[in-house]
Amino acid sequence: MPIYLNDQLLFCTNTIFVDTLEMENELFDLCSFTQKPVSKATYVTRLEEILRSDVPATITLKDIEMAQKIQAAMQTQLENEDNEAAIQQDEKRQKTQEVFDKVAVVEETLEPAESETVDGGDTGTTALHQIVTSMSPTPTDEELTVALAMIDKLFEWGAGWMMLDDNDETAGCIALRRQLPRVVYDKFVAAGVRSEIFLRRVTEDSAYSEVDESDIPNLVEEDQQQLEEQEVNHIEPVDDPKKTDGVEADNDAACYQDVYLDTPLEYTEHALVTKELGDGVMMDWEDEIMKRSANLLVSSLDDATRGPIVLNIGFGMGIIDGYLQSKKPYKQYISEAHPDVLKKLRADGWYEKPNVIILEGRWQDTLPKLLSEGVYFDGIYYDTFSETYQDLVDFFDPVVGLLAPTGIFSFFNGLGADRQICYDVYTQVVEVDLNEYGLNVTYDIINVDDMVKTKPEGEGVWGGIKRSYWKVDEFRLPKCTFMA
Ligand SMILES: C[S@@+](CC[C@H](N)C(=O)[O-])C[C@H]1O[C@@H](n2cnc3c(N)ncnc32)[C@H](O)[C@@H]1O
Repeated sequence: MPIYLNDQLLFCTNTIFVDTLEMENELFDLCSFTQKPVSKATYVTRLEEILRSDVPATITLKDIEMAQKIQAAMQTQLENEDNEAAIQQDEKRQKTQEVFDKVAVVEETLEPAESETVDGGDTGTTALHQIVTSMSPTPTDEELTVALAMIDKLFEWGAGWMMLDDNDETAGCIALRRQLPRVVYDKFVAAGVRSEIFLRRVTEDSAYSEVDESDIPNLVEEDQQQLEEQEVNHIEPVDDPKKTDGVEADNDAACYQDVYLDTPLEYTEHALVTKELGDGVMMDWEDEIMKRSANLLVSSLDDATRGPIVLNIGFGMGIIDGYLQSKKPYKQYISEAHPDVLKKLRADGWYEKPNVIILEGRWQDTLPKLLSEGVYFDGIYYDTFSETYQDLVDFFDPVVGLLAPTGIFSFFNGLGADRQICYDVYTQVVEVDLNEYGLNVTYDIINVDDMVKTKPEGEGVWGGIKRSYWKVDEFRLPKCTFMA
């Protein structure tokens, strides 16, 4: 909508401010490092001035292009108007509304169709993208210092770490692809970690706070404003990696657990998939990961003790459970919620195996009973489907109640695995969350590059699977233990 301020019309659509157009252009010039030498005095100081003049740190080249068209439309309209000084306010507003309507038409031609957006928003080139695209991969010390200071400054003013350009890349992705000095990429990861943790805290606070918000207006407003900025900048990087990309209908089994549990599944030669859409629930390329995970879960026990007591959440193809069986467990608990998977467990004779206890239903419903029975586990593993990052964090609660003091907890760590920077960010975010539950985490590295990453969508290992959910080289196998 158009915004009137002191009787003056400011066009404000998304982050476009027509009256600061010159400075918006200058921002991108500055971030292209065209003026030499590159010095702090010229670059960082000017950047700060531009940002202080209401140019949003999130502005994109697309926004500027749109603003230029808006400006042209306004000029044409005003040239056609009677220039008399005392135009009535109502008339003036009506006319500007007409301009706005024209602008809306311009906007429509510029905005990508909703179905084209990626991960919730392909926003276009931001100043951060411009910096990492323009800077030399072998900068001088001064150039590097200036670039880092500019990145810091932009983040300080609300730039988004996860904004995507037209190539579906964040600025951090570009820094990595162009092999800029690692310290540049690390800045983006650090910003991502800060932003995700902040967002989670604020969301938690607003969900559970018992304080009446009207009692603390300033604080709430500030938080709310920061939250809104963060939400603009935040493009859901992480949930279940096997989820589809957010442009699915409400009945998407990969996104909604109740839909998933009602969706028929099918076991194929190499995978467990949803029957109709072919969402990969579990695939056998993960075999090596499951093997190493099973070894890890029992690694705290010495040979002299009785067999391990283990708990696995999510049977899937039964790969990890097969490996755990081979460890001759004293007790092996398997929690499984999907009726078709439970049928498979029955058909394959798991109900008859000695020392195996099947917990039918969602772990959220079956684990409370175990907690009240005082069972303790040497190893706990979590690998579900269509659950969120928050579900994983909620799972830490039963973990601390059920894990033996020397026990090991692990999970299928696919957090953000379809984008390297998201994987790097969530490696740190989950550590912060685990630490809050008194758990330490270390990672063993499993190279999965040849298994999946290099295989194209829909081919080889991904044949018949709706979407490849793994795009990073390494699997980081988490080993979580109680802090000493
Ligand atoms: C990725 S598969 C697990 C694969 C398993 N790690 C293996 O080695 O074959 C996920 C499994 O979790 C189950 N699941 C999903 N949500 C669950 C929940 N809340 N409680 C218990 N099981 C769940 C799914 O039905 C599915 O069988």
